[in-house]
Amino acid sequence: MTNKITSLTEYLKAYQESIAHPDDFWAKIATTHFWRKSWDQVVKWRFDGDQAPDVQWFVNGKLNITENIFERQLFMRENQTAIIWEPNDPKEKEIYLTYGELFEKVNQFANTLLKLGVKKGDRVAIYLPMVPELAISMLACARIGAIHSIIFAGFSATALSDRIVDAQAKVLLTADGGFRGNKTIALKEISDEALETSPTVEQVVVLKRTGESVSMKEGRDIWWHDAIKNVSTENTAEVMDAEDPLFILYTSGSTGKPKGVVHTTAGYMVYSEYTFKNVFQYDEGDMYWCTADIGWVTGHSYIIYGPLLTGATTIMFEGIPTFPDAGRFWDIVDKYKVNQIYTAPTAIRALMAQGDEWVTKHDLSSLKVLGTVGEPINEEAWRWYHEVVGKGHCPVVDTWWQTETGGILIAPLAGITPTKPTMATLPLPGVQPVLVDQEGNEIKGNGVQGILCIKHPWPGMLRTTWGDHDRCYQTYFSMYKGLYLTGDGAKRDEEGYYRIIGRIDDVINVSGHRIGTAEVEDAINQHPKVVESAVVGYPHPIKGSGIYAYVIAEEMADAQKNGLEDEIRDTVNRLIGPIAKPDVIQMVSGLPKTRSGKIMRRILRKIGEGDATQLGDISTLLDPSVVEEIIAGAKVEVKR
Ligand code: PRX
Repeated sequence: MTNKITSLTEYLKAYQESIAHPDDFWAKIATTHFWRKSWDQVVKWRFDGDQAPDVQWFVNGKLNITENIFERQLFMRENQTAIIWEPNDPKEKEIYLTYGELFEKVNQFANTLLKLGVKKGDRVAIYLPMVPELAISMLACARIGAIHSIIFAGFSATALSDRIVDAQAKVLLTADGGFRGNKTIALKEISDEALETSPTVEQVVVLKRTGESVSMKEGRDIWWHDAIKNVSTENTAEVMDAEDPLFILYTSGSTGKPKGVVHTTAGYMVYSEYTFKNVFQYDEGDMYWCTADIGWVTGHSYIIYGPLLTGATTIMFEGIPTFPDAGRFWDIVDKYKVNQIYTAPTAIRALMAQGDEWVTKHDLSSLKVLGTVGEPINEEAWRWYHEVVGKGHCPVVDTWWQTETGGILIAPLAGITPTKPTMATLPLPGVQPVLVDQEGNEIKGNGVQGILCIKHPWPGMLRTTWGDHDRCYQTYFSMYKGLYLTGDGAKRDEEGYYRIIGRIDDVINVSGHRIGTAEVEDAINQHPKVVESAVVGYPHPIKGSGIYAYVIAEEMADAQKNGLEDEIRDTVNRLIGPIAKPDVIQMVSGLPKTRSGKIMRRILRKIGEGDATQLGDISTLLDPSVVEEIIAGAKVEVKR
């Protein structure tokens, strides 16, 4: 396989080359792609100055990413399976789509979008469950140069509308409903509510999935099966500039509403393919399964783009790990003889808690590689994955990256880089991590800890945040001059291996999903009986972090009697979605604030963690006595 590293020596050599001569390094990789016109310059970049980031890869190159999935490889892969779709209910039949079939479906939907008036550069919002049409429609957008913005089908109407409005999407693709375990989600009903406040959407295409009855608005809504009827399956791809946006994906930060991370065409393509084949060491004919939802970046890069660009067979799973029982993941591994599995620590911990028999009763001998992503993996989960699932002979690849990075930045190459539990190990070729102190001074050497930044661009990095370039600068490039700020803290051990410790900002990683504390507080505060709230993360055995909310209510006495806590959870559910619902709500009469009115979250975080032994200096608080009251009423046991 081209551009695949096969030994540690080769990795070390590739890494050296990628640092000494990044242009030559990436040019060599990119020449294996199909270009309508080659680039004039490999990379042009600036990380400093208030216009930052100003980054262009493969400048003036012309291409279409779907031609690199289909036309580039079709002569050899037409009859090879591209996607296997495994339904939520194991009694329903799976679907196999070959590269040839997928190509036809993508072309047909591309033509359908054109018929609906979607043009290059228009935004298409996609709010679909994990069904083949989700893959088909995102590739169809890429085919015609429309920018897809996929919204996870667990988000609420308000969250959906916020994202549609921000991206000014012209078309929404959704379904009547979606299956998730033994529940269904009324996607069309939620969409209808969202559309009341989303004026830019002209047309809605609705896929029939659950068969529940939905209302269709005349002139706006059209059924998927009607929309594609008699539409041609031939389409010529739109020629895109290397830097034309490919997609927008919303993610949470410390402040404000989620921001639309923008990824562009050529760099993302080169990077997602290169990292996929190298990290997972994909071999021709392997069966690869990433358990994520395409609504998150992991699904974009490592269910769809990376694997399909590589010519892999990729499995798409509609359901959840525990339906119909806790053996479902291992059923699927056994059924398709999966070689590489890629999942999240939260799923590993949840399945570990169900007992080993669920795993051991299946034949998992096909497994070669065990991937993990989304949050730090604790040692116990790492060892269980390695020993019980992988029987001690499959490398665990702990992959660190972010929505903003487009692809994996720090990870072992499976079977090549020696692994150590809980360590993401070494940077991939082309990635230049640095650790800095609070002032931004680089901390050199090994056996150190600091804030993780990146000092040179890599092809898959974000280019901007949709509609607000300054926000991109402020969030990632304004803190330390000339560096991309990841928002994570990390250790570099004596051997130069990286271990990611976790977020340094007000972002909580709940089950591998990023949730901004400010977003949850905004939602809670919208409840009419809430005066103010403060939200922090606290250690949770399965989710990694849980959400702990300290809430001041108008009538404290009233709160308990009248089920205010449940109402608050419902409010968050309605405004964001179930993933953001607080696990713990503690009613308080005041919050620890400084004289200037800033909430000292550090104190609340410590109490949530159950450790009040080192609260630090609280004398600067406006009213230090609230701390004692909060400790006394804490919903967790607190050490003093
Ligand atoms: O804190 C890091 C954590 O997840 C954040 C990125 O979240 P998101 O953009 O939603 O993307 C998740 C999937 C790529 C990071 O800032 N994170 C991700 N992977 C790891 C991790 N923390 C520790 N170890 C990892 N392997």
